[in-house]
Amino acid sequence: MIISGKELREKFLKYFENNNHAILSSASLIPENDPTVLFTTAGMHPLVPYLMGEKHPSGTRLADVQKCWRTGDIEEVGDKTHHTFFEMLGNWSLGDYGKIEAIDLAWKFLTSELKIDSKFLAVTIFGGNQDIKDFDQEAEEHWLKLGLAKNKIAKLTDNWWGPAGTSGPCGPDTEIFYWTGDKNAVPETFDPADDTWVEIWNNVFMEYNKTPEGKYLPLEQKNIDTGMGLERTLAVLNNLDDNYLTDLFLPIIQKIEELSGKKYQNNLKAFRVIADHLRSATFLLGDPQGMAPSNTGQGYVLRRVIRRAIRFGKNLEIQDNFCAQIAVVVIEMFQEEYPELKTREKFILDELQKEEEKFESTIQKGLKQFEKLLAEKSLNEKAAFNLFATFGFPLEMTLELAKEQGLELSESDYQKEFEKHQELSRTASAGMFKGGLADDSEMSTKYHTATHLLHQALRTVLGEHVEQRGSNINQERMRFDFTHPEKMTSEQIKEVEDLVNQQIAKNLPVSYQEMTVEEAKERGAIGLFGHKYGEKIKVYTVGEDDNFFSREICGGPHVENIGVLGHFKIQKEESSSAGIRRIKAILE
Ligand code: ALA
Repeated sequence: MIISGKELREKFLKYFENNNHAILSSASLIPENDPTVLFTTAGMHPLVPYLMGEKHPSGTRLADVQKCWRTGDIEEVGDKTHHTFFEMLGNWSLGDYGKIEAIDLAWKFLTSELKIDSKFLAVTIFGGNQDIKDFDQEAEEHWLKLGLAKNKIAKLTDNWWGPAGTSGPCGPDTEIFYWTGDKNAVPETFDPADDTWVEIWNNVFMEYNKTPEGKYLPLEQKNIDTGMGLERTLAVLNNLDDNYLTDLFLPIIQKIEELSGKKYQNNLKAFRVIADHLRSATFLLGDPQGMAPSNTGQGYVLRRVIRRAIRFGKNLEIQDNFCAQIAVVVIEMFQEEYPELKTREKFILDELQKEEEKFESTIQKGLKQFEKLLAEKSLNEKAAFNLFATFGFPLEMTLELAKEQGLELSESDYQKEFEKHQELSRTASAGMFKGGLADDSEMSTKYHTATHLLHQALRTVLGEHVEQRGSNINQERMRFDFTHPEKMTSEQIKEVEDLVNQQIAKNLPVSYQEMTVEEAKERGAIGLFGHKYGEKIKVYTVGEDDNFFSREICGGPHVENIGVLGHFKIQKEESSSAGIRRIKAILE
Protein backbone atom coordinates (compact mmCIF):
# COMPACT_ATOMS: atom_id res chain seq x y z
CA MET A 1 0.00 0.00 0.00
CA ILE A 2 1.50 3.34 -1.07
CA ILE A 3 -0.82 5.37 1.13
CA SER A 4 -3.39 4.24 3.73
CA GLY A 5 -6.86 5.65 4.34
CA LYS A 6 -5.70 7.09 7.63
CA GLU A 7 -2.73 8.81 5.98
CA LEU A 8 -4.87 10.32 3.24
CA ARG A 9 -7.37 11.71 5.76
CA GLU A 10 -4.55 13.16 7.84
CA LYS A 11 -2.66 14.65 4.89
CA PHE A 12 -5.82 16.32 3.64
CA LEU A 13 -6.77 17.86 6.99
CA LYS A 14 -3.21 18.91 7.82
CA TYR A 15 -2.84 20.60 4.44
CA PHE A 16 -5.99 22.63 4.86
CA GLU A 17 -5.17 23.41 8.46
CA ASN A 18 -1.84 24.80 7.27
CA ASN A 19 -3.82 26.88 4.82
CA ASN A 20 -5.81 28.47 7.65
CA HIS A 21 -8.87 26.24 7.58
CA ALA A 22 -10.62 25.24 10.81
CA ILE A 23 -11.00 21.46 11.01
CA LEU A 24 -14.50 20.25 11.89
CA SER A 25 -15.63 16.85 13.12
CA SER A 26 -17.94 14.83 10.95
CA ALA A 27 -21.59 15.64 11.55
CA SER A 28 -24.18 12.92 12.08
CA LEU A 29 -25.36 10.78 9.17
CA ILE A 30 -28.87 11.92 10.05
CA PRO A 31 -29.40 15.51 8.88
CA GLU A 32 -30.44 17.81 11.66
CA ASN A 33 -33.76 19.46 10.87
CA ASP A 34 -33.80 18.66 7.18
CA PRO A 35 -36.90 16.65 6.44
CA THR A 36 -36.33 16.47 2.67
CA VAL A 37 -33.67 13.76 2.77
CA LEU A 38 -33.02 10.76 4.97
CA PHE A 39 -29.25 10.98 5.19
CA THR A 40 -26.30 13.34 5.00
CA THR A 41 -25.26 12.88 1.38
CA ALA A 42 -22.30 15.25 1.06
CA GLY A 43 -19.84 17.22 3.15
CA MET A 44 -21.70 20.45 2.42
CA HIS A 45 -25.00 19.10 3.69
CA PRO A 46 -24.55 19.95 7.39
CA LEU A 47 -23.16 23.33 6.31
CA VAL A 48 -26.21 24.50 4.33
CA PRO A 49 -27.25 27.28 6.77
CA TYR A 50 -23.70 28.71 6.58
CA LEU A 51 -23.57 28.48 2.81
CA MET A 52 -26.81 30.47 2.87
CA GLY A 53 -25.15 33.26 4.87
CA GLU A 54 -25.39 32.36 8.54
CA LYS A 55 -22.11 32.92 10.38
CA HIS A 56 -20.17 29.76 11.21
CA PRO A 57 -18.57 29.78 14.67
CA SER A 58 -15.32 28.30 13.33
CA GLY A 59 -14.85 30.98 10.70
CA THR A 60 -15.02 31.25 6.93
CA ARG A 61 -12.47 28.57 5.92
CA LEU A 62 -13.40 25.04 6.91
CA ALA A 63 -12.36 21.48 6.14
CA ASP A 64 -13.45 18.04 7.33
CA VAL A 65 -13.96 14.37 6.61
CA GLN A 66 -17.71 13.81 6.56
CA LYS A 67 -19.57 10.50 6.86
CA CYS A 68 -22.01 10.23 3.94
CA TRP A 69 -24.76 7.84 2.97
CA ARG A 70 -26.49 7.63 -0.42
CA THR A 71 -29.58 5.46 -0.88
CA GLY A 72 -29.66 6.05 -4.65
CA ASP A 73 -26.72 3.71 -5.09
CA ILE A 74 -27.95 0.62 -3.21
CA GLU A 75 -28.65 -1.37 -6.37
CA GLU A 76 -25.36 -0.30 -7.95
CA VAL A 77 -23.33 -1.76 -5.12
CA GLY A 78 -21.51 -4.84 -6.36
CA ASP A 79 -19.23 -3.12 -8.87
CA LYS A 80 -15.78 -1.78 -8.04
CA THR A 81 -16.71 1.75 -7.07
CA HIS A 82 -20.25 2.25 -5.78
CA HIS A 83 -20.98 2.45 -2.07
CA THR A 84 -23.89 3.28 0.18
CA PHE A 85 -21.66 4.67 2.94
CA PHE A 86 -18.51 6.61 2.14
CA GLU A 87 -16.30 9.31 3.56
CA MET A 88 -15.96 12.66 1.83
CA LEU A 89 -12.95 14.91 2.23
CA GLY A 90 -14.00 18.53 1.77
CA ASN A 91 -12.93 22.13 2.12
CA TRP A 92 -15.12 25.23 2.18
CA SER A 93 -14.91 28.93 1.74
CA LEU A 94 -17.90 30.74 3.22
CA GLY A 95 -17.67 33.98 1.28
CA ASP A 96 -13.90 33.90 1.84
CA TYR A 97 -11.67 32.81 -1.07
CA GLY A 98 -13.05 32.39 -4.57
CA LYS A 99 -12.60 30.21 -7.60
CA ILE A 100 -8.96 31.00 -8.30
CA GLU A 101 -7.70 30.21 -4.82
CA ALA A 102 -9.89 27.11 -4.62
CA ILE A 103 -8.39 25.73 -7.83
CA ASP A 104 -4.89 26.64 -6.62
CA LEU A 105 -5.46 24.88 -3.29
CA ALA A 106 -6.73 21.72 -4.98
CA TRP A 107 -3.95 21.68 -7.57
CA LYS A 108 -1.23 22.16 -5.01
CA PHE A 109 -2.60 19.43 -2.77
CA LEU A 110 -2.65 16.92 -5.61
CA THR A 111 0.64 17.81 -7.25
CA SER A 112 2.79 18.95 -4.30
CA GLU A 113 1.36 17.10 -1.28
CA LEU A 114 0.30 13.85 -2.93
CA LYS A 115 2.97 14.32 -5.60
CA ILE A 116 0.74 13.25 -8.45
CA ASP A 117 2.40 13.90 -11.80
CA SER A 118 0.24 16.51 -13.52
CA LYS A 119 0.31 14.58 -16.79
CA PHE A 120 -2.10 12.10 -15.20
CA LEU A 121 -4.64 14.84 -14.42
CA ALA A 122 -7.45 16.36 -16.48
CA VAL A 123 -10.49 18.50 -15.64
CA THR A 124 -14.02 19.27 -16.69
CA ILE A 125 -15.50 22.74 -16.40
CA PHE A 126 -19.02 24.13 -16.69
CA GLY A 127 -19.99 24.67 -20.33
CA GLY A 128 -23.24 26.62 -19.80
CA ASN A 129 -26.82 25.29 -19.89
CA GLN A 130 -30.34 26.62 -20.38
CA ASP A 131 -30.54 28.17 -16.90
CA ILE A 132 -27.06 29.67 -16.69
CA LYS A 133 -25.84 30.46 -20.19
CA ASP A 134 -22.18 31.38 -19.81
CA PHE A 135 -19.42 28.81 -19.83
CA ASP A 136 -16.88 29.10 -17.01
CA GLN A 137 -14.18 31.08 -18.78
CA GLU A 138 -12.49 32.09 -15.54
CA ALA A 139 -11.94 28.45 -14.55
CA GLU A 140 -10.65 27.57 -18.00
CA GLU A 141 -8.19 30.44 -18.02
CA HIS A 142 -6.89 29.54 -14.60
CA TRP A 143 -6.40 25.86 -15.41
CA LEU A 144 -4.45 26.91 -18.49
CA LYS A 145 -2.37 29.24 -16.38
CA LEU A 146 -1.50 26.36 -14.05
CA GLY A 147 -0.09 24.55 -17.04
CA LEU A 148 -2.88 22.18 -17.96
CA ALA A 149 -3.08 21.64 -21.74
CA LYS A 150 -6.20 22.93 -23.48
CA ASN A 151 -7.16 19.42 -24.61
CA LYS A 152 -7.10 18.24 -20.99
CA ILE A 153 -9.97 20.62 -20.17
CA ALA A 154 -13.44 19.46 -21.20
CA LYS A 155 -16.48 21.75 -21.17
CA LEU A 156 -19.65 20.00 -20.07
CA THR A 157 -23.20 21.32 -19.73
CA ASP A 158 -23.89 19.16 -16.69
CA ASN A 159 -20.93 20.36 -14.61
CA TRP A 160 -23.28 21.68 -12.02
CA TRP A 161 -23.67 20.45 -8.47
CA GLY A 162 -26.56 20.66 -6.03
CA PRO A 163 -28.71 21.39 -4.30
CA ALA A 164 -28.42 18.42 -1.95
CA GLY A 165 -32.18 18.21 -1.40
CA THR A 166 -34.85 19.86 -3.51
CA SER A 167 -33.74 23.43 -2.92
CA GLY A 168 -30.74 25.31 -1.55
CA PRO A 169 -27.21 26.32 -2.53
CA CYS A 170 -25.71 25.03 -5.77
CA GLY A 171 -23.48 26.12 -8.61
CA PRO A 172 -21.14 25.29 -11.49
CA ASP A 173 -18.21 23.01 -10.76
CA THR A 174 -14.87 21.85 -12.02
CA GLU A 175 -14.08 18.17 -11.60
CA ILE A 176 -10.59 16.75 -11.46
CA PHE A 177 -9.87 13.38 -13.10
CA TYR A 178 -6.99 10.94 -12.71
CA TRP A 179 -5.70 8.59 -15.41
CA THR A 180 -5.88 5.02 -14.07
CA GLY A 181 -4.72 3.26 -17.23
CA ASP A 182 -1.24 2.47 -18.55
CA LYS A 183 0.98 5.22 -17.15
CA ASN A 184 3.01 5.24 -20.38
CA ALA A 185 0.00 5.67 -22.58
CA VAL A 186 -1.85 8.73 -21.32
CA PRO A 187 -4.06 10.00 -24.17
CA GLU A 188 -3.25 13.43 -25.61
CA THR A 189 -6.88 14.45 -25.32
CA PHE A 190 -9.06 13.98 -22.27
CA ASP A 191 -12.31 12.16 -22.96
CA PRO A 192 -14.59 12.37 -19.90
CA ALA A 193 -16.65 9.46 -21.29
CA ASP A 194 -13.62 7.16 -21.07
CA ASP A 195 -13.85 5.67 -17.60
CA THR A 196 -10.15 5.02 -17.39
CA TRP A 197 -10.23 8.66 -16.31
CA VAL A 198 -11.62 8.55 -12.78
CA GLU A 199 -13.11 11.62 -11.12
CA ILE A 200 -11.41 12.20 -7.79
CA TRP A 201 -12.33 15.73 -6.70
CA ASN A 202 -15.21 18.05 -7.29
CA ASN A 203 -14.81 21.80 -6.69
CA VAL A 204 -18.16 23.56 -6.67
CA PHE A 205 -18.48 27.32 -7.05
CA MET A 206 -21.57 27.67 -4.94
CA GLU A 207 -22.99 30.92 -6.22
CA TYR A 208 -26.71 30.21 -6.58
CA ASN A 209 -29.70 29.31 -4.46
CA LYS A 210 -32.29 27.09 -6.11
CA THR A 211 -35.70 28.03 -4.75
CA PRO A 212 -38.41 25.42 -4.08
CA GLU A 213 -40.10 26.79 -7.26
CA GLY A 214 -37.02 25.90 -9.31
CA LYS A 215 -35.57 29.40 -9.80
CA TYR A 216 -31.83 30.05 -9.60
CA LEU A 217 -31.11 33.18 -7.60
CA PRO A 218 -27.56 34.49 -7.15
CA LEU A 219 -26.36 34.01 -3.57
CA GLU A 220 -25.16 37.13 -1.85
CA GLN A 221 -22.33 35.18 -0.27
CA LYS A 222 -20.23 33.31 -2.88
CA ASN A 223 -18.89 30.05 -1.53
CA ILE A 224 -16.58 27.20 -2.40
CA ASP A 225 -17.66 23.63 -1.67
CA THR A 226 -15.44 20.71 -2.53
CA GLY A 227 -15.72 16.97 -2.17
CA MET A 228 -13.25 14.16 -2.65
CA GLY A 229 -14.42 10.57 -2.20
CA LEU A 230 -11.94 8.93 0.15
CA GLU A 231 -12.46 5.34 -1.05
CA ARG A 232 -12.06 6.06 -4.74
CA THR A 233 -9.14 8.45 -4.39
CA LEU A 234 -7.35 6.02 -2.12
CA ALA A 235 -7.79 3.24 -4.68
CA VAL A 236 -6.36 5.22 -7.59
CA LEU A 237 -3.46 6.57 -5.54
CA ASN A 238 -2.53 2.98 -4.77
CA ASN A 239 -2.90 1.92 -8.41
CA LEU A 240 -5.81 -0.32 -7.49
CA ASP A 241 -8.80 -0.52 -9.79
CA ASP A 242 -11.07 -1.89 -7.05
CA ASN A 243 -12.03 0.13 -3.95
CA TYR A 244 -12.54 -3.11 -2.00
CA LEU A 245 -8.82 -3.81 -2.16
CA THR A 246 -7.97 -0.64 -0.19
CA ASP A 247 -7.51 -0.79 3.56
CA LEU A 248 -10.97 0.79 3.96
CA PHE A 249 -12.46 -2.59 2.97
CA LEU A 250 -9.81 -5.30 2.76
CA PRO A 251 -10.03 -6.55 6.38
CA ILE A 252 -13.80 -6.99 5.85
CA ILE A 253 -13.24 -8.93 2.63
CA GLN A 254 -10.74 -11.15 4.44
CA LYS A 255 -13.23 -11.80 7.23
CA ILE A 256 -15.87 -12.84 4.67
CA GLU A 257 -13.34 -15.23 3.11
CA GLU A 258 -12.75 -16.71 6.54
CA LEU A 259 -16.47 -17.05 7.32
CA SER A 260 -17.46 -18.48 3.96
CA GLY A 261 -14.38 -20.47 3.07
CA LYS A 262 -14.67 -18.92 -0.40
CA LYS A 263 -12.39 -16.60 -2.38
CA TYR A 264 -13.17 -12.96 -3.10
CA GLN A 265 -11.92 -13.16 -6.68
CA ASN A 266 -14.45 -15.90 -7.51
CA ASN A 267 -17.44 -14.20 -5.86
CA LEU A 268 -16.92 -10.49 -6.43
CA LYS A 269 -20.49 -9.25 -6.28
CA ALA A 270 -21.56 -11.14 -3.15
CA PHE A 271 -18.43 -10.12 -1.26
CA ARG A 272 -18.79 -6.49 -2.25
CA VAL A 273 -22.46 -6.27 -1.31
CA ILE A 274 -21.83 -7.87 2.07
CA ALA A 275 -18.79 -5.68 2.77
CA ASP A 276 -20.43 -2.45 1.67
CA HIS A 277 -23.80 -3.05 3.31
CA LEU A 278 -22.53 -4.23 6.67
CA ARG A 279 -19.98 -1.42 6.81
CA SER A 280 -22.72 1.10 6.11
CA ALA A 281 -25.15 -0.59 8.52
CA THR A 282 -22.51 -0.45 11.25
CA PHE A 283 -22.09 3.29 10.68
CA LEU A 284 -25.86 3.90 10.77
CA LEU A 285 -26.33 1.86 13.94
CA GLY A 286 -23.22 3.48 15.44
CA ASP A 287 -24.11 7.06 14.58
CA PRO A 288 -24.73 9.38 17.56
CA GLN A 289 -28.27 9.67 16.13
CA GLY A 290 -28.30 6.02 15.10
CA MET A 291 -31.52 4.05 14.88
CA ALA A 292 -32.55 0.40 14.96
CA PRO A 293 -33.90 -1.38 11.86
CA SER A 294 -37.61 -0.67 11.36
CA ASN A 295 -40.25 -0.40 8.66
CA THR A 296 -40.07 3.34 8.08
CA GLY A 297 -37.59 6.08 7.21
CA GLN A 298 -33.92 5.55 7.92
CA GLY A 299 -34.66 2.39 9.90
CA TYR A 300 -36.19 0.86 6.79
CA VAL A 301 -33.16 1.61 4.64
CA LEU A 302 -31.01 0.11 7.36
CA ARG A 303 -33.19 -3.02 7.42
CA ARG A 304 -32.94 -3.27 3.64
CA VAL A 305 -29.14 -3.22 3.54
CA ILE A 306 -28.78 -5.68 6.40
CA ARG A 307 -31.20 -8.10 4.78
CA ARG A 308 -29.57 -7.70 1.40
CA ALA A 309 -26.22 -8.55 2.97
CA ILE A 310 -27.74 -11.63 4.63
CA ARG A 311 -29.19 -12.79 1.33
CA PHE A 312 -25.80 -12.56 -0.34
CA GLY A 313 -24.35 -14.35 2.68
CA LYS A 314 -26.75 -17.19 1.94
CA ASN A 315 -25.49 -17.27 -1.65
CA LEU A 316 -22.02 -17.77 -0.23
CA GLU A 317 -23.46 -20.48 2.02
CA ILE A 318 -22.27 -18.82 5.21
CA GLN A 319 -23.85 -21.04 7.85
CA ASP A 320 -24.08 -19.08 11.08
CA ASN A 321 -25.24 -15.60 11.87
CA PHE A 322 -22.41 -13.46 10.58
CA CYS A 323 -23.45 -9.79 10.56
CA ALA A 324 -22.25 -8.99 14.05
CA GLN A 325 -18.94 -10.73 13.39
CA ILE A 326 -18.33 -8.45 10.44
CA ALA A 327 -19.39 -5.40 12.43
CA VAL A 328 -16.70 -6.24 15.00
CA VAL A 329 -14.12 -5.91 12.22
CA VAL A 330 -15.62 -2.62 10.98
CA ILE A 331 -15.61 -1.14 14.49
CA GLU A 332 -12.00 -2.15 14.94
CA MET A 333 -11.01 -0.56 11.61
CA PHE A 334 -12.76 2.79 12.14
CA GLN A 335 -13.00 3.38 15.89
CA GLU A 336 -10.04 5.71 16.03
CA GLU A 337 -11.58 8.21 13.59
CA TYR A 338 -15.15 7.52 14.71
CA PRO A 339 -15.13 6.72 18.46
CA GLU A 340 -18.95 6.64 18.47
CA LEU A 341 -18.70 3.15 16.93
CA LYS A 342 -16.93 1.85 20.01
CA THR A 343 -19.29 3.67 22.40
CA ARG A 344 -22.27 2.13 20.66
CA GLU A 345 -20.70 -1.27 20.03
CA LYS A 346 -23.17 -3.23 22.15
CA PHE A 347 -26.15 -1.62 20.44
CA ILE A 348 -24.66 -2.29 16.98
CA LEU A 349 -23.96 -5.95 17.67
CA ASP A 350 -27.26 -6.61 19.46
CA GLU A 351 -29.33 -5.03 16.71
CA LEU A 352 -27.54 -6.94 13.95
CA GLN A 353 -28.02 -10.18 15.80
CA LYS A 354 -31.73 -9.49 16.34
CA GLU A 355 -32.26 -8.47 12.74
CA GLU A 356 -30.61 -11.59 11.44
CA GLU A 357 -32.89 -13.72 13.63
CA LYS A 358 -35.97 -11.78 12.57
CA PHE A 359 -35.11 -12.15 8.92
CA GLU A 360 -34.71 -15.88 9.34
CA SER A 361 -38.19 -16.15 10.79
CA THR A 362 -39.53 -13.95 7.95
CA ILE A 363 -38.02 -16.33 5.48
CA GLN A 364 -39.57 -19.32 7.20
CA LYS A 365 -43.02 -17.69 7.18
CA GLY A 366 -42.58 -16.63 3.57
CA LEU A 367 -41.64 -20.16 2.58
CA LYS A 368 -44.84 -21.53 4.12
CA GLN A 369 -46.91 -18.99 2.22
CA PHE A 370 -44.97 -19.75 -0.94
CA GLU A 371 -45.82 -23.44 -0.64
CA LYS A 372 -49.45 -22.61 -0.03
CA LEU A 373 -49.55 -20.50 -3.19
CA LEU A 374 -47.87 -23.26 -5.09
CA ALA A 375 -50.38 -25.85 -3.93
CA GLU A 376 -53.25 -23.51 -4.84
CA LYS A 377 -51.62 -22.87 -8.21
CA SER A 378 -51.96 -19.15 -7.56
CA LEU A 379 -48.32 -18.13 -7.69
CA ASN A 380 -48.05 -15.20 -10.08
CA GLU A 381 -46.29 -11.82 -10.18
CA LYS A 382 -48.88 -10.11 -8.03
CA ALA A 383 -48.67 -12.88 -5.45
CA ALA A 384 -44.88 -12.61 -5.54
CA PHE A 385 -45.14 -8.92 -4.85
CA ASN A 386 -47.57 -9.52 -1.97
CA LEU A 387 -45.12 -12.02 -0.53
CA PHE A 388 -42.60 -9.21 -0.49
CA ALA A 389 -44.97 -6.49 0.72
CA THR A 390 -46.58 -8.59 3.47
CA PHE A 391 -43.78 -10.89 4.59
CA GLY A 392 -40.72 -9.00 3.40
CA PHE A 393 -39.90 -12.11 1.40
CA PRO A 394 -37.23 -11.14 -1.13
CA LEU A 395 -38.15 -11.27 -4.81
CA GLU A 396 -34.92 -13.00 -5.77
CA MET A 397 -35.84 -15.89 -3.52
CA THR A 398 -39.34 -16.14 -4.95
CA LEU A 399 -37.94 -16.17 -8.47
CA GLU A 400 -35.37 -18.80 -7.61
CA LEU A 401 -37.79 -21.08 -5.81
CA ALA A 402 -40.39 -20.70 -8.55
CA LYS A 403 -37.77 -21.64 -11.10
CA GLU A 404 -36.96 -24.79 -9.16
CA GLN A 405 -40.65 -25.68 -9.55
CA GLY A 406 -40.46 -25.04 -13.28
CA LEU A 407 -42.33 -21.73 -13.04
CA GLU A 408 -40.91 -18.65 -14.79
CA LEU A 409 -42.22 -15.43 -13.26
CA SER A 410 -41.81 -12.26 -15.26
CA GLU A 411 -39.60 -9.81 -13.49
CA SER A 412 -41.02 -6.89 -15.43
CA ASP A 413 -44.61 -7.71 -14.41
CA TYR A 414 -43.42 -7.94 -10.84
CA GLN A 415 -41.65 -4.64 -11.33
CA LYS A 416 -44.94 -3.06 -12.45
CA GLU A 417 -46.60 -4.11 -9.20
CA PHE A 418 -43.66 -2.74 -7.33
CA GLU A 419 -43.83 0.61 -9.12
CA LYS A 420 -47.54 0.95 -8.39
CA HIS A 421 -46.70 0.51 -4.74
CA GLN A 422 -43.79 2.96 -4.88
CA GLU A 423 -45.95 5.55 -6.57
CA LEU A 424 -48.37 5.33 -3.64
CA SER A 425 -45.67 5.71 -1.03
CA ARG A 426 -43.99 8.51 -2.97
CA THR A 427 -47.24 10.48 -3.03
CA ALA A 428 -47.58 9.94 0.68
CA SER A 429 -44.05 11.06 1.47
CA ALA A 430 -44.24 14.05 -0.88
CA GLY A 431 -47.04 15.30 1.34
CA MET A 432 -45.06 14.63 4.42
CA PHE A 433 -41.84 16.22 3.23
CA LYS A 434 -43.35 19.44 1.96
CA GLY A 435 -40.70 21.62 3.60
CA GLY A 436 -37.55 22.49 1.71
CA LEU A 437 -33.88 21.99 2.37
CA ALA A 438 -32.73 24.91 4.49
CA ASP A 439 -36.38 25.40 5.14
CA ASP A 440 -36.10 28.54 7.18
CA SER A 441 -39.82 29.16 7.06
CA GLU A 442 -41.29 30.78 10.12
CA MET A 443 -43.19 27.67 11.16
CA SER A 444 -40.17 25.35 10.91
CA THR A 445 -38.09 27.79 12.91
CA LYS A 446 -40.75 27.81 15.61
CA TYR A 447 -40.84 24.02 15.70
CA HIS A 448 -37.08 23.94 15.89
CA THR A 449 -37.11 26.11 19.01
CA ALA A 450 -39.96 24.04 20.46
CA THR A 451 -37.72 20.98 20.08
CA HIS A 452 -35.26 22.51 22.55
CA LEU A 453 -38.02 23.23 25.03
CA LEU A 454 -39.35 19.70 24.74
CA HIS A 455 -35.88 18.19 25.14
CA GLN A 456 -35.27 20.09 28.37
CA ALA A 457 -38.79 19.47 29.69
CA LEU A 458 -38.35 15.72 29.16
CA ARG A 459 -35.10 15.78 31.08
CA THR A 460 -36.70 17.72 33.92
CA VAL A 461 -39.71 15.43 34.16
CA LEU A 462 -38.22 12.02 33.30
CA GLY A 463 -34.58 12.43 34.25
CA GLU A 464 -31.15 13.17 32.87
CA HIS A 465 -30.95 9.88 31.00
CA VAL A 466 -33.12 11.46 28.30
CA GLU A 467 -31.07 12.21 25.20
CA GLN A 468 -32.19 13.29 21.78
CA ARG A 469 -31.98 10.54 19.20
CA GLY A 470 -33.40 12.35 16.21
CA SER A 471 -35.85 14.99 15.20
CA ASN A 472 -37.86 15.73 12.15
CA ILE A 473 -39.70 18.93 11.50
CA ASN A 474 -42.02 20.16 8.82
CA GLN A 475 -44.42 23.05 8.65
CA GLU A 476 -47.22 21.10 10.30
CA ARG A 477 -45.64 19.23 13.18
CA MET A 478 -42.53 18.13 14.98
CA ARG A 479 -41.31 14.68 15.80
CA PHE A 480 -38.77 14.00 18.50
CA ASP A 481 -37.03 10.72 19.37
CA PHE A 482 -35.31 10.26 22.69
CA THR A 483 -33.89 7.62 24.99
CA HIS A 484 -36.25 6.43 27.70
CA PRO A 485 -36.87 2.83 28.68
CA GLU A 486 -40.66 2.83 29.02
CA LYS A 487 -43.93 4.32 27.90
CA MET A 488 -44.62 7.74 29.41
CA THR A 489 -47.67 7.91 31.66
CA SER A 490 -50.42 10.38 30.78
CA GLU A 491 -49.45 12.38 33.89
CA GLN A 492 -45.87 12.68 32.65
CA ILE A 493 -47.05 13.76 29.21
CA LYS A 494 -49.23 16.44 30.77
CA GLU A 495 -46.39 17.58 33.02
CA VAL A 496 -44.05 17.97 30.04
CA GLU A 497 -46.68 19.85 28.05
CA ASP A 498 -47.42 22.17 30.98
CA LEU A 499 -43.75 22.83 31.60
CA VAL A 500 -43.21 23.85 27.98
CA ASN A 501 -46.32 26.04 27.94
CA GLN A 502 -45.31 27.74 31.20
CA GLN A 503 -42.01 28.76 29.60
CA ILE A 504 -43.77 30.05 26.50
CA ALA A 505 -46.05 32.12 28.75
CA LYS A 506 -42.94 33.69 30.32
CA ASN A 507 -41.88 35.10 26.92
CA LEU A 508 -38.30 33.93 27.44
CA PRO A 509 -35.68 35.34 25.05
CA VAL A 510 -33.52 33.08 22.85
CA SER A 511 -29.87 33.95 22.32
CA TYR A 512 -26.73 32.21 21.17
CA GLN A 513 -23.04 32.31 21.87
CA GLU A 514 -20.04 30.72 20.27
CA MET A 515 -17.71 28.73 22.46
CA THR A 516 -15.63 25.59 22.64
CA VAL A 517 -17.21 22.24 23.43
CA GLU A 518 -15.53 22.27 26.84
CA GLU A 519 -16.98 25.67 27.71
CA ALA A 520 -20.39 24.54 26.52
CA LYS A 521 -20.30 21.52 28.81
CA GLU A 522 -19.13 23.63 31.70
CA ARG A 523 -21.97 26.04 31.16
CA GLY A 524 -24.53 23.27 31.34
CA ALA A 525 -25.29 22.83 27.65
CA ILE A 526 -26.90 19.62 26.47
CA GLY A 527 -26.73 18.25 22.95
CA LEU A 528 -24.48 16.16 20.80
CA PHE A 529 -20.94 16.25 22.08
CA GLY A 530 -19.43 14.55 19.04
CA HIS A 531 -17.01 17.41 18.53
CA LYS A 532 -13.26 17.73 18.71
CA TYR A 533 -11.43 19.19 21.66
CA GLY A 534 -11.24 22.95 21.23
CA GLU A 535 -13.69 23.04 18.34
CA LYS A 536 -15.93 26.13 18.32
CA ILE A 537 -19.65 25.55 18.32
CA LYS A 538 -22.86 27.49 18.72
CA VAL A 539 -24.86 27.23 21.91
CA TYR A 540 -28.46 28.41 22.12
CA THR A 541 -29.91 29.56 25.43
CA VAL A 542 -33.60 29.99 26.19
CA GLY A 543 -33.96 32.34 29.15
CA GLU A 544 -31.40 34.56 30.86
CA ASP A 545 -27.71 33.72 30.74
CA ASP A 546 -27.54 32.96 34.48
CA ASN A 547 -31.09 31.68 34.79
CA PHE A 548 -31.99 29.66 31.75
CA PHE A 549 -34.55 27.02 30.98
CA SER A 550 -32.70 25.36 28.12
CA ARG A 551 -29.14 25.49 26.84
CA GLU A 552 -28.23 23.34 23.91
CA ILE A 553 -25.55 22.90 21.26
CA CYS A 554 -27.21 23.58 17.92
CA GLY A 555 -26.76 25.29 14.57
CA GLY A 556 -30.02 27.25 14.66
CA PRO A 557 -32.04 29.04 13.37
CA HIS A 558 -34.42 29.87 16.21
CA VAL A 559 -37.10 32.41 17.08
CA GLU A 560 -35.92 35.38 19.11
CA ASN A 561 -38.49 35.02 21.86
CA ILE A 562 -40.45 31.89 22.64
CA GLY A 563 -43.57 33.97 23.33
CA VAL A 564 -44.41 33.63 19.63
CA LEU A 565 -44.68 29.84 19.73
CA GLY A 566 -48.35 29.64 20.69
CA HIS A 567 -49.68 26.58 22.51
CA PHE A 568 -47.63 23.40 22.60
CA LYS A 569 -49.51 20.12 22.42
CA ILE A 570 -48.26 16.52 22.42
CA GLN A 571 -50.38 14.47 20.05
CA LYS A 572 -48.74 11.11 20.45
CA GLU A 573 -46.14 9.27 22.49
CA GLU A 574 -45.07 5.91 21.14
CA SER A 575 -42.22 3.48 20.82
CA SER A 576 -39.75 4.21 18.04
CA SER A 577 -37.44 1.26 18.63
CA ALA A 578 -35.98 -0.55 21.62
CA GLY A 579 -35.24 1.99 24.35
CA ILE A 580 -36.24 4.92 22.14
CA ARG A 581 -39.55 6.78 22.48
CA ARG A 582 -41.08 9.11 19.92
CA ILE A 583 -43.20 12.19 20.50
CA LYS A 584 -45.28 13.93 17.86
CA ALA A 585 -46.33 17.42 18.81
CA ILE A 586 -47.83 20.53 17.31
CA LEU A 587 -47.93 24.25 17.99
CA GLU A 588 -51.47 25.59 17.77
N1 ALA B 1 -20.87 18.83 -2.82
C1 ALA B 1 -20.00 18.39 -3.86
C2 ALA B 1 -20.10 16.92 -4.12
O1 ALA B 1 -20.71 16.22 -3.34
C3 ALA B 1 -18.60 18.81 -3.62
O2 ALA B 1 -19.58 16.44 -5.09
